[in-house]
Amino acid sequence: MSDEAVTGGVTSGQSDVEPVVNEKRRYFLIGATSAVGGVGVVGAAVPFVQSWMPSAKARAAGAPIKIDISKLKTGEMLGPIQAWRGKPIFIILRDAGAVARLEQNVGALADPDSANVEMQPEYAVNPWRSQRPEIGVYIGICTHLGCSPKYFGEVKAQPFNENWQGGWFCPCHGSSFDLAGRVVKGVPAPDNLEVPPYRFETDTLIVIGEEGRA
Ligand code: FES
Repeated sequence: MSDEAVTGGVTSGQSDVEPVVNEKRRYFLIGATSAVGGVGVVGAAVPFVQSWMPSAKARAAGAPIKIDISKLKTGEMLGPIQAWRGKPIFIILRDAGAVARLEQNVGALADPDSANVEMQPEYAVNPWRSQRPEIGVYIGICTHLGCSPKYFGEVKAQPFNENWQGGWFCPCHGSSFDLAGRVVKGVPAPDNLEVPPYRFETDTLIVIGEEGRA
């Protein structure tokens, strides 16, 4: 009886004790499950964060670039340079005559005063649309449908305009831009060529993609 009672007690005790053991085990299992769940969440979150983070290649594609203009001669264009954010860059060196003409021949232009603030930084709101009157920096994409305009820097009659004053002509649908990248009236392109953010690191080294005054 007593054995049985003990046994029973043990049995009974086992049944009394068992829930305690089970409870601990349950807590362990709950904890383990939570921990596994937590790992699962972290494990699931890492790929998400990784896919959300821009890749090194993407970061590099948006990074500033430096362009050496030491070999650029007056009247010439350097470019197109397919470098900054996949956009071609045009850099031209204007002579004094070209700079002067940009202040005079404005009647034929659609936006001579760079009123569309989207198309240039504040420091390029002037007749040259540039930091230095003689050096122009533009994105070489026609604002109509994205063709690459051709550079015709000389004042010289052209097949598409016998009174050409220098600038760019887009062969796709005939839009013209002056030597400040300003679009003429009455052509398909709605806006001036875009001016990227840039700064002069030295007189002959331009950093595209960083703001800064000359
Ligand atoms: S893309 Fe340049 S005029 Fe149409």
